[in-house]
Amino acid sequence: MDHFHYRDGQLYCEDVPVADLAEQFGTPLYVYSQSAFLGTFNALRSAFAAVDPLICYAMKANSNLGILRMMAEHGSGFDVVSGGELYRVLAAGGEAAKSVFAGVGKTDEEIREGIAAGILMFNVESEEELDAIARVAKEMNRVAPIALRVNPDVDPKTHRYISTGKKESKFGMDIDRALRLAESAVKVSSLSMIGMHMHIGSQITTVEPYAGAVAKGVEIVEKLRKMGHPIQWYNMGGGFGINYVGQEAKPVEAFARVIVPAVQSTQCRLAMEPGRVIAGNAGILVSRVLYTKQSGEKRFLIQDAAMNDLIRPALYESFHKIWPVSVPPGFPAPPVDFAAVPGAEPWDVVGPVCESGDFLAKDRPLPRLARGALLATFSAGAYGMVMASNYNTRPRAPEILVEGTTVKLVRRRETYEDLILQERL
Ligand code: LLP
Repeated sequence: MDHFHYRDGQLYCEDVPVADLAEQFGTPLYVYSQSAFLGTFNALRSAFAAVDPLICYAMKANSNLGILRMMAEHGSGFDVVSGGELYRVLAAGGEAAKSVFAGVGKTDEEIREGIAAGILMFNVESEEELDAIARVAKEMNRVAPIALRVNPDVDPKTHRYISTGKKESKFGMDIDRALRLAESAVKVSSLSMIGMHMHIGSQITTVEPYAGAVAKGVEIVEKLRKMGHPIQWYNMGGGFGINYVGQEAKPVEAFARVIVPAVQSTQCRLAMEPGRVIAGNAGILVSRVLYTKQSGEKRFLIQDAAMNDLIRPALYESFHKIWPVSVPPGFPAPPVDFAAVPGAEPWDVVGPVCESGDFLAKDRPLPRLARGALLATFSAGAYGMVMASNYNTRPRAPEILVEGTTVKLVRRRETYEDLILQERL
């Protein structure tokens, strides 16, 4: 079910008209649907039930405290990649014991924080990192639980900026190197290797890359066990894609059909780190048209959300559906074919930032809109607000979490004072 839907030409988030939220909180504005977050979380839980999954929500996708609290209350663990993210998990009432600590560049301080908090395991990305974790654990008189991050060298067929499982990427270790390291780690008393980890990339829409990777994972788990490592966790990472344009992504059940039998054969528990699939379609960015203008043949819709609010189109040339919050007479309500809307003209949807890279869409068929009209940019729940900046000294947008008819402000709009708080004359 789509938790953002139109009734009588008006966009709703669950049971709340989006226009009312824009009125109350101003624009630009992020709006999230609680049912959408939890719907996918529960769908993952059931699809992977046979391997008793621990879902470590990849909070890098959306780390608002209100979201983390909701996820923790429903039993989620977390994938953290920094001391800051761990701090957020704990502040939101999440459990370190259900969380994994990933990232290619953990500092000693972050390793210490992870061990002190009782993190479930560190995903180890290099020989030197393994040494660092062993040393810090020894200093603390503790045994650090770890999983080796293995790079299975598969092509996830996604944007090159978000592809991570190929040999030439900076993530993880190639299989031979990882196995050599595992041999030497057997003797290290301050480490306990309880897992094997891989993450092949993000926005993966087909199951084939996973099929290739899991088969390699099964062999690796066997080899690690033969060396004497007590491997209990098969961590498949994240990466399940979502529908940005049409119906391009396979449902989570399809990924489960490929992953579950392989993990079952190892008798490991499955850990997973889904981010985008949980948060992506659970959020929209709402903006207001400031001006329209034409330059030669080009039409520009200048609205108050910018690249500092949602950088994905500028950074990855990514496509986000955009449609008016109130559908103008004569136009359809979604689902529409956004590539060719009858009666629509092509518009560049741009923001007020002083860069030609500041756009949310190019040549996008849209109805002609007047100043003050509201626009919704869809699939903005993941890698939206978390990648927002204060470029051009623009206060970051507020975030609203909707549950049925209940509206919760989970982050207020920044003020100008917030923006200069850390600075000194
Ligand atoms: N685990 C690891 C080790 C990761 O590096 C990532 C994402 C995830 C899990 C979660 O992946 P997901 O399930 O969300 O695909 N900013 C980019 C995406 C960067 C993804 C980075 N790593 C974007 O906006 O598309």
